[in-house]
Amino acid sequence: MKICVLPGDGIGPEITAEAVRVLKTLDLKLELEEGLLGGCAVDAAGDPFPEATQKLAKEADAVLLGAVGGPKWDNHPRELRPERGLLRIRKDLGLFANLRPAILYPELANASTLKPEVVAGLDILIVRELTGDIYFGTPRGIEIRHGERVGFNTMIYSESEIRRILKVAFEAARKRGKKVCSIDKMNVLETTQLWRDVANEVARDYPDVELSHMLVDNAAMQLVKNPKQFDVIVTGNMFGDILSDEAAMLTGSIGMLPSASLDEKNKGLYEPSHGSAPDIAGKGIANPLATILSAAMMLRYTFNLEEAARRIEGAVKKVLAAGYRTADIYEPGMKKVGTREMGDAVIAAL
Ligand code: IPM
Ligand code: MG
Repeated sequence: MKICVLPGDGIGPEITAEAVRVLKTLDLKLELEEGLLGGCAVDAAGDPFPEATQKLAKEADAVLLGAVGGPKWDNHPRELRPERGLLRIRKDLGLFANLRPAILYPELANASTLKPEVVAGLDILIVRELTGDIYFGTPRGIEIRHGERVGFNTMIYSESEIRRILKVAFEAARKRGKKVCSIDKMNVLETTQLWRDVANEVARDYPDVELSHMLVDNAAMQLVKNPKQFDVIVTGNMFGDILSDEAAMLTGSIGMLPSASLDEKNKGLYEPSHGSAPDIAGKGIANPLATILSAAMMLRYTFNLEEAARRIEGAVKKVLAAGYRTADIYEPGMKKVGTREMGDAVIAAL
């Protein structure tokens, strides 16, 4: 079991270090190798996704990623921005299926800005298409037309791209609440009319799963109005980017949420849903739990080690129940700990 570890930028190195320690505690014969991705790779190799990392990632069974990006690289040309490294590794490895669970841990119910009765027991899975849409569509660019600058991008989906992500959503729903809500903007955009048509076609193979459709603007509203109506949400790359941040914040603690990006054979890249938090980088106060939980997702999806995955998740629940809190989820009366101590607590619970 070969794992490529890409700590990245900002708090990335601190949080991945804890996830790696947790994995090592499990005694699973994992082979871990570190590489550079993002801003650190731009600094060291002049490329956010250098060749050495491409090779490492290709050869590995799974990638564990911290986070990339930071103000230091904001003014770089697009090709030399950390985010570009992330987009390229997703595309290069064919990681089309992004799973972003939004789960409210009962111990953290007060962390949400929404009323407890609205979010208590929340358990949504967002399935976001990750290698298509306006993120990758061409033509794209900024050019002069009729004496002024115009910017343009192309929103595009082929039927096979839509079909394979819908299948992932239906399969996931089968193992959960058996409901899929497909999000589109078919009242305006042809691309998403096709999305809806294909979703209906795929649904015929899953008579045991209920499919509904929702327009993206309404979905944004429903997510804060009545989020518990959702089980699995499936949508395209850009809508998924936006809605998954919204869904994450329903739980009040984006520092808790893992994610998995999978290819057709369950090779995967696992990373926390949050960013590189440059403002607190190097202070030892970041919450490592989303990365630790991402490592659990890796054991489940890529290595089929359900029991080991549950052990990690169980240990995280235990430390929360015991009152350990990093600053982002701290409430008076709890035990405030730093990144390292949180890792220690999870390892002790294991
Ligand atoms: C995400 C991030 C990325 C995205 C950025 C950093 C390119 O926002 O993973 O959601 O837009 O996909
Ligand atoms: Mg995003």
